[in-house]
Amino acid sequence: MRTKLIAGNWKMNLTSGEAGPLAKTIADAVGSDGPDVLLCPSFTLIPAVRDAVDGTKVQVGAQNIFWEPKGAYTGEVSAEMLIDAGCSHVIIGHSERRQYFGETDASVQRKTMTALKVDLIPIICVGETLDEREEGRTEAIIDKQISGALTGIEADDMLRVVIAYEPVWAIGTGRTATPDTAQEVHKQIRTWLKNKYGKDVAEQVRILYGGSMKAANAADLLGQPDIDGGLVGGASLKADEFKAIIDAAR
Ligand code: PGA
Repeated sequence: MRTKLIAGNWKMNLTSGEAGPLAKTIADAVGSDGPDVLLCPSFTLIPAVRDAVDGTKVQVGAQNIFWEPKGAYTGEVSAEMLIDAGCSHVIIGHSERRQYFGETDASVQRKTMTALKVDLIPIICVGETLDEREEGRTEAIIDKQISGALTGIEADDMLRVVIAYEPVWAIGTGRTATPDTAQEVHKQIRTWLKNKYGKDVAEQVRILYGGSMKAANAADLLGQPDIDGGLVGGASLKADEFKAIIDAAR
């Protein structure tokens, strides 16, 4: 049985004066049972969020890393720095990073390897654009992104990887994939994993759905057999909405 994971992707929002209290409200509401819960704030907010959730089951993650361990890479943050700051997870290859910052399957793969080296759990994001879906290319795009990201990742390491299926057309648009549409792609991803890593590994990997998940649709999405949680953007900035999503995962 895979424990569900509800991850909040706060994107480029909030200041520390807002992030700490929001994290604390969420941590207080979560209690000790239920799904795993993760908050991914901007780099500068990590200490405030880490302190606010200290001693609770809520974990802290980042939204990006660089693959080099240290050196002359102005503006970048290493995997070891994230561990040092108290992170357990890192989002890699979010579609906004692919769209605005030139992230590719190859950079996602390098970052994934780097995260695994320091025991940071990578959350690898994949997803097709609206054009790709309408052209009937969803399956091919997901295959390409998954195989690119996981090149060189062995089965043992794969057990620590989380995948997030986020159709680009559903992110921040209010347009959610139907549970059936999402399940179809999640199943495709799990079948891909089975072919590469075997059934045992494939059955243990968590595959999250992301894209306008909210209180009103979370239970239906999370009720699908291959949807193991959510990567939640907008709704994770509202304590009540996010708590309702966590409750739906119980
Ligand atoms: P959204 O974002 O929930 O606001 O659509 C999800 C994501 O980008 O991870």
